Amino acid sequence: MTPIDLSPLRAQFPSLGLEVGGSPAVYLDNPAGTQVPQAVADAVSHYFLNANANTGGAFETSRRTDATILGARQAMADMLGAASPSEIAFGPNMTTLTFSLSRAIGRLLSPGDEVLVTTLDHDANIAPWAALAERGVVVRQADVQVPDCTLDMDDLLGKINARTKVVAVGYASNASGTINALGPIVEAAHAVGAWVFVDAVQYAPHGPIDVQALGCDFLACSAYKFFGPHIGVLWGRPELMEAIPAYKVRPAKDAAPYKFETGTQNHECLAGVSAAVDYIAGVGRRFGGDFAARHAGAAGRRRDILLGLEAMKEYESLLCQQLIGGLQQIEGLRIWGITDPARAHERVPTIACTWEVMDAPETAQYLADNGVFVWSGNYYALALMERLGLQERGGAVRIGISHYNTAAEIDRTLELLDSASRRYS
Ligand SMILES: Cc1ncc(COP(=O)(O)O)c(C=O)c1O
Repeated sequence: MTPIDLSPLRAQFPSLGLEVGGSPAVYLDNPAGTQVPQAVADAVSHYFLNANANTGGAFETSRRTDATILGARQAMADMLGAASPSEIAFGPNMTTLTFSLSRAIGRLLSPGDEVLVTTLDHDANIAPWAALAERGVVVRQADVQVPDCTLDMDDLLGKINARTKVVAVGYASNASGTINALGPIVEAAHAVGAWVFVDAVQYAPHGPIDVQALGCDFLACSAYKFFGPHIGVLWGRPELMEAIPAYKVRPAKDAAPYKFETGTQNHECLAGVSAAVDYIAGVGRRFGGDFAARHAGAAGRRRDILLGLEAMKEYESLLCQQLIGGLQQIEGLRIWGITDPARAHERVPTIACTWEVMDAPETAQYLADNGVFVWSGNYYALALMERLGLQERGGAVRIGISHYNTAAEIDRTLELLDSASRRYS
């Protein structure tokens, strides 16, 4: 099979044409937010110019707004494999949605009940659950295995017991890129009657999601990580979404998903969510043919989305191996996470590294000065950075690939690191 090349898609992303100091910008800050295709910007603008109103009115723009919201729910249901659009709630971002849900679930918990979080998670999937300690809930935390930044599954599974009510776990780490094996976690949690909340924010841009196959109870993600606007998405098992006593204003509907959507929604961003999902589906139609056999049971836009994400996964994995291989040649550089090519399927293309030549903020600045955008610090993966002993040292550099990056961009980044390494050592 010829290696897949998604670089023709770059033409759909106007922001990729940015130049810094005369050189084309290299966007490797993708784990913090991706660029958007023209179609997403157009959809947001189209909403403002043609449909701008509040919901539930008898007039044309209000009806268009209702259709925009329903369209975004359907788009996300297609992307996540939900059975119905009414299983999808929107909110300002994943963090806010998770705080709302954890507070609502907290109303059902008693002192002595337990929630389990992990050291590998972004703080948005730790702090909202840890806050339940105020109600006497016991918060336990599963450890990681430092050498490859994977979850310590023995520790995690050993901490699930009859008092566990919620297990909050990430699908993929926003620091080390580790993809977690969710199957055994869901099984162990359900065996004791606990619910599983999955933070899929980092995973969503890099691979197909099927909430029904995962068997989890809740899953959250953020559209700005998958080429959409800044908005959060929550999927919940319908019977739980109905049963959980959300904090809401009295006139708002009592039914799910509305009761989780406090106040007026971000309608223009919801228009952009549909366009982002349609963009992914378009990638599937254009580049996903080789992966059709993997999703023979899927149809329509759901199928196209799955194939689009498969194509991205395949292409990004090639770039990721190129990056890891190159970073391993750079003097004094350490990658925190899985590097073995045989385990490439256990990670997303998000790489955390530290370097003896410069600390993480200096490295990010040096690359930024040369037009390469990467992140440094803890990116809110605070527990992991503390566990790795990096928090005091400025955290780690994070280089995160998206499907619109190219092999030439990876080479340029590696050359910059290599030349600094030669200069300083
Ligand atoms: C893994 C992970 N979870 C949660 C979040 C928080 O998402 P949001 O910004 O939508 O609150 C992020 C953001 O970077 C993330 O990477």
